[in-house]
Amino acid sequence: MTDLSVASTAKRTTFDVEAVRRDFPILSQQVNGKPLVYLDNGASAQKPEAVLNAMDRYYREMHSNVHRGAHTLGDRATAAFEGARETVRNFLNAESTREIIWTRGTTEAINLVANGLAPRLKAGDEILVSHMEHHANIVPWQMIAERTGAKVVPVQVTPDGELDLESFTSLLNEKTRVLAITHVSNVLGTVNPVAALIEQAKAHGIITLVDGAQAVPHYQPDVQSLGCDFYVFSSHKLFGPTGIGVLYGKAQLLEEIPPYQGGGEMIERVSFERTTWNTLPYKFEAGTPAIAEAVGLGAAIEYLNGLDRPAMEAAEAALLERANQLVEMVPGMKIIGTAKRKVPVMSFKIAGLHPSDIGTLLDQQGIAIRTGHHCAMPLMDFYGVPGTARASFAFYNTLDEVDTLFTALQKVQRLFA
Ligand code: ALA
Repeated sequence: MTDLSVASTAKRTTFDVEAVRRDFPILSQQVNGKPLVYLDNGASAQKPEAVLNAMDRYYREMHSNVHRGAHTLGDRATAAFEGARETVRNFLNAESTREIIWTRGTTEAINLVANGLAPRLKAGDEILVSHMEHHANIVPWQMIAERTGAKVVPVQVTPDGELDLESFTSLLNEKTRVLAITHVSNVLGTVNPVAALIEQAKAHGIITLVDGAQAVPHYQPDVQSLGCDFYVFSSHKLFGPTGIGVLYGKAQLLEEIPPYQGGGEMIERVSFERTTWNTLPYKFEAGTPAIAEAVGLGAAIEYLNGLDRPAMEAAEAALLERANQLVEMVPGMKIIGTAKRKVPVMSFKIAGLHPSDIGTLLDQQGIAIRTGHHCAMPLMDFYGVPGTARASFAFYNTLDEVDTLFTALQKVQRLFA
């Protein structure tokens, strides 16, 4: 076997990854008789003890419905729930908690915005997305386009997996109404220059939405400095629970667009003659919300706030650097997505091997990756592949785990050679 020590010069950072790993109970288990190497963070990240404890404590000590009960538990639940909203506001640097809407996740947030903007769209209008979008940032727009006669137009990507900026500029025109763009590609790891794109879009009076699902686990976005109208993300990729996500929207736009779902909580007054809407953010929160999940997401963000961000980002960059150095150790391995600015996500193929076989054989060695089209079929078509294998790293992964992955890939490759 080829010696992996070629990359032993990879930078070790001061980030205490072993201490951080102890905060994530799930990571210390064995899978298929081997220590778990969890490299499927892009699909869903693991949860620190702080999140598990916050949700446990919530249910043990304060659960009740929010904004309703005239009793102590109701007050505690409401305080925890609204406290989490403030934590999210602070995380995004939004101006007000009125701009923070709880949703079920990124997908629901985009559907909410697309439906809310539908009344503004007419035949011939254009909705600009990119060729590297997740289906969640394509299909809701296609559905709205179908209803309104608008058109979804994709910005091209380059073979390296960068957004083609010439294509972007050339597609902006007086018919463009919406720019819905991913901050970070879930397949390629590319970090798009969203601030510059938004600035250009704004100059044309275009409404902008940023899909931050894959960005927030690695960076803390500042929605005011980005200048976007909407920013969306899911909790479960940000080390929080499943079933909840966030829509940030500029208050003025949120005031203007209609509610997405009707029911309790989102109303001011209901009568058979006329029903009026609640104020922000509740206008978009019909029904009993995911209270414990909001508390869990708040705890995840608080946990992240306790980490040394620059050190964490350096540790992640070192993981990607190490992986890039080791690629040549596996005959026939090719990375898909080699943009200059990337998060630690590595999509790849190995000549002669089907991605799902790679995934299965790695799983037998305790290594979890994702294989398939990654909900990005147009991007797969662009690269002419049915799918890829993808290792997606989080700050709790180690350089040793990168080595373990490549040792395992060498084995897999030899097995099929
Ligand atoms: N969108 C998630 C991923 O990229 C599920 O894996």
